[in-house]
Amino acid sequence: MHEPSLADLRSRVGKKWRLYEADVIPAWVADMDFSPAQVIVDAVRSFLAEGDWGYVDGREHDRMIEAGVAWATARHGWSPAPSECRVVLDVMQGVAASIQAFTQPGDGVIITNPVYHPFGWAIESSDRAVVEAPLTDREDGFRITRAALEAAVDRGGKMLLLCNPHNPTGRVFSATELAVVAEVASEADLIVVSDEIHADLVYEPHRHIPIAALAPAIADRCITLVSPSKAFNLAGVGCAMAAFGTPELAARFDELPFALLGHPTGTGVRAATAAWELGGPWLDELRVRLRANRDTVSDWVGENRQIGHRVPEATYLAWLDFRPLHWSVEPHERLLAKGRVALSSGVQFGTGGAGHARLNFGTYPAVLDEILHRMESALAETRLVL
Ligand SMILES: Cc1ncc(COP(=O)(O)O)c(C=O)c1O
Repeated sequence: MHEPSLADLRSRVGKKWRLYEADVIPAWVADMDFSPAQVIVDAVRSFLAEGDWGYVDGREHDRMIEAGVAWATARHGWSPAPSECRVVLDVMQGVAASIQAFTQPGDGVIITNPVYHPFGWAIESSDRAVVEAPLTDREDGFRITRAALEAAVDRGGKMLLLCNPHNPTGRVFSATELAVVAEVASEADLIVVSDEIHADLVYEPHRHIPIAALAPAIADRCITLVSPSKAFNLAGVGCAMAAFGTPELAARFDELPFALLGHPTGTGVRAATAAWELGGPWLDELRVRLRANRDTVSDWVGENRQIGHRVPEATYLAWLDFRPLHWSVEPHERLLAKGRVALSSGVQFGTGGAGHARLNFGTYPAVLDEILHRMESALAETRLVL
């Protein structure tokens, strides 16, 4: 695969490479630097060449849904009913729309913080309350606990917004943990919205378990959101699929104002369909590369022992704990100022995020080496100051 130079990457028009000044290397937003799969490029090209750019017919949605269900069946052993699936513009639209459809203003929505920060925005902007069920940071990694979930229910949680695999910690929740989630959800009559956008970026020996695949009792209260946009790097082009556990849930979603959901684009539907129908081999190669990068990051952290890190079980995101360094500013600020490398702020992921930063390693090895080299310089400067 052709590896672009830093100059090539800097000339890109996407958000990742444009937000910061030209001498900064971005390792923040969850976009990768790799070019998309040729099969997806071809599908989008032929759609554009056909020039049939009117509103997308429902049969195109059906084809995408069929591809999504076949993918979920083959890759994750989970077969949602196609009749209970809907195409949505993106995962966050699915999240925000589900909050509207299944809760009332003032209701609490539970999150497992620190977590993908737009969850909080979606909850608060629709006049619902964020209720935290913090992950427990144990020796063996971050865990969801029954105690945290029950406490969140006691504080008014009516819906659980799950993120599995989890961003930013990289956890892939086990069957045992998910069973606890399912039990609490049943006992407390919670609706579960499960954002599984990172499901296809899981590293062996871990395995993604869609929570709706655990048992019918949990599926019946579940809305699962999936999309090829992270694994296939299509955030600016793709779309997403919402899978409802029952016809009743799907019907309630369908009652949302039409204009709120908008029109999925022809490019998005074609790109997602191509990813799920044809993208398997590309993805399998990508995961090998990402795994090597993941190991590069954890080896590097191993040499810089002051930084806390748990090797991610999924995603191309490393959650780094800089608290042992006792920096007076948040790590992303310091790394930007001293290393000219832009990680995501840990604080933005909510309670539990302070003192952390999230590193995106979805890039070419040479770029990753440069990122780590720059971080090393920022750390070395700290050591001198200390
Ligand atoms: C957990 C999670 N959910 C949702 C999204 C955004 O997805 P979309 O662009 O489909 O709204 C991201 C993007 O990084 C994410 O990490």
